[in-house]
Amino acid sequence: MSDAVKVMKQEVGKAAAARVTSNSVVGLGTGSTTAYAIQFLGDRLKSGELENVVGIPTSFQAEVLAKQYGIPLTTLDATDKIDVAIDGADEVDPQKNLIKGGGAAHTREKIVDTLAETFIVVVDQGKLVDRLGSTFLLPVEVLPMAIAPVMRAIEGLGGKPELRMGIKKAGPVVTDQGNLVIDVKFEQIDDPVALEATLNNLPGVLENGLFVNCTDVVLVGEINDGQPSVREM
Ligand code: 5RP
Repeated sequence: MSDAVKVMKQEVGKAAAARVTSNSVVGLGTGSTTAYAIQFLGDRLKSGELENVVGIPTSFQAEVLAKQYGIPLTTLDATDKIDVAIDGADEVDPQKNLIKGGGAAHTREKIVDTLAETFIVVVDQGKLVDRLGSTFLLPVEVLPMAIAPVMRAIEGLGGKPELRMGIKKAGPVVTDQGNLVIDVKFEQIDDPVALEATLNNLPGVLENGLFVNCTDVVLVGEINDGQPSVREM
């Protein structure tokens, strides 16, 4: 990651963390951009600028970062509301629909992000697409024993599935829930609402990375003439 990209991600994360108010429950997303939001949220709590903020992590990564930056954590058993969730995305379309799951955390992310009163997405401009599925494969979390039938069923739907393999780890990626991830190439995703439901209806599928009609705010980081800036989409 170049220095300019790093600063741009930091600025988007900071802009999202700046929207959090005292006395709130915050959904903590996953990924390299959200990591900066978690860091800046921790900074605001530490300085006393914010009080009484608790986080609900969407992944093991978010939990580790929250502990590192001093954000107290709670669970969905202990609270009945999430005020705001901050999370990254792999693609964002003009209707603010998303593909997520680049970090294999989309199942818990969807639970937390869709429960939030306000869901803020933090991305760089390279994530903006006209149509979902044009640059990123669609992640699908699957129970290990159902991998073969789910892959066959996805082929039957016109998708090209591939099992996500680990990097610096032999074998497939295993999610925080102990499942596997299939990344699927669809020629085009015309109806994300229908595809989200169809995929989730396959026995053995836990959740897919289509996030439809749930985003409230998209903060987009840009670099113009070497200068990072943030705009709201
Ligand atoms: C994890 C995700 C991430 O939010 C998404 O992959 C974006 O990550 P980054 O900010 O590192 O590009 O969906 O499952």
